[in-house]
Amino acid sequence: MTTARVLVDLGARKYPILIGSNTLGTLGIALRENCLTQRDAFIITNAEVGAHYFETVRVSLEGAGFRRVVRHDIPASEQGKNWDEFTKACAGMLEQFPDAGSIPLVILLGGGVVGDLGGFAAAVFRRGVPFVQIPTTLLSAVDSSVGGKVAVNFGGVKNIMGAFSQPRLVFCDLTVLKTLSAREVRSGTAEIVKYGVVCSESLFRELEDGAMERLLALDPATLTDIVAQCCRLKADVVERDEFDKLGIRNVLNFGHTIGHGLELSAGYALTHGEAIAIGMVAATRMAVQLGMVGEPIAQRLFALIQRAGLPMSFPETPGLFEQIIKAMQSDKKFRDGKNLFVLPTAIGAWEPRENVDWKLVEECVRSILS
Ligand SMILES: NC(=O)c1ccc[n+]([C@@H]2O[C@H](COP(=O)([O-])OP(=O)(O)OC[C@H]3O[C@@H](n4cnc5c(N)ncnc54)[C@H](O)[C@@H]3O)[C@@H](O)[C@H]2O)c1
Ligand SMILES: [Zn+2]
Repeated sequence: MTTARVLVDLGARKYPILIGSNTLGTLGIALRENCLTQRDAFIITNAEVGAHYFETVRVSLEGAGFRRVVRHDIPASEQGKNWDEFTKACAGMLEQFPDAGSIPLVILLGGGVVGDLGGFAAAVFRRGVPFVQIPTTLLSAVDSSVGGKVAVNFGGVKNIMGAFSQPRLVFCDLTVLKTLSAREVRSGTAEIVKYGVVCSESLFRELEDGAMERLLALDPATLTDIVAQCCRLKADVVERDEFDKLGIRNVLNFGHTIGHGLELSAGYALTHGEAIAIGMVAATRMAVQLGMVGEPIAQRLFALIQRAGLPMSFPETPGLFEQIIKAMQSDKKFRDGKNLFVLPTAIGAWEPRENVDWKLVEECVRSILS
């Protein structure tokens, strides 16, 4: 299987995820086929991704009749996912498209940083203009491009300024992953392992049975299969709890409570996926301590994280522990003095826990500092 189509069925806001290989040159046709009839396009990307893929996108759009294709670059890292860059993207849209008669299609060409920041800009420009996600990292293909959570970091808190705004289409050409660094490919596998642990035992087993190594080698059939499975799993969650109000969507936060705290405190030394891998280790230790899951399951998860080449700990430096705790206490899900932990109860099952004894939380955070 080298192509797949996943529908995110949100009624009036439903959209397809088109997964394929060597398809970027057909983007323009796909947009028109999906009723995106805009005359102009505003492409948000970064220097790294733009250097590889902007021209292909531009030529494809012009071939499909787009008249103006404007490019806007943001910095190529998590440090650039901030309010200043967000307002620059908004200013760029307003400057280039001041006329209400020429609202562009916003196209987000990049990883999760481009998708989150650019999606937020599209969500608020003129109270929302249509946008399309073109994920170019494994992480964004399996996770951030789907589901409509768009945001930037602000005041030292991850994703605290944002919106819910669904894309009109997710267009995923897996061939673009060939230019991604090995480190970023590994990083993407962290969210895939996350889906396996809390949503799907069969996915977890597939990873254990060799799909992990085939993924890391970017085997096209494995990539298509696993990306489609993850998108389907995420779509199922989002379809049941689009606005994160019912507690169902919390499942996607496995590894993220301590992981986000570490990601923010490590001074950008870790990718998002690396921080989440370490966060999953800490959360699973917590689940074992609470008697929610047995040690053998924890060992299976740790083995898979190691096979992915992802870290299980981070070097301790003076003050780091305190910084992580502080960051966790300003997490956007911190409520009434408590963090929300998503903890596994088996492979493919989870439960939320809000009343974890603070001593145990601290013990689990200490356990990931080496
Ligand atoms: N909205 C959501 O639901 C959601 C879910 C998960 C993660 N996220 C967010 O996603 C972000 C992480 O995204 P990411 O891991 O994609 O990182 P990223 O967007 O920072 O990209 C990682 C690096 O890879 C480079 N790159 C991207 N595509 C490339 C390609 N094809 N070839 C060569 N280089 C390429 C980028 O320039 C960057 O340097 C975090 O901010 C995280 O909070 C959001
Ligand atoms: Zn994540």
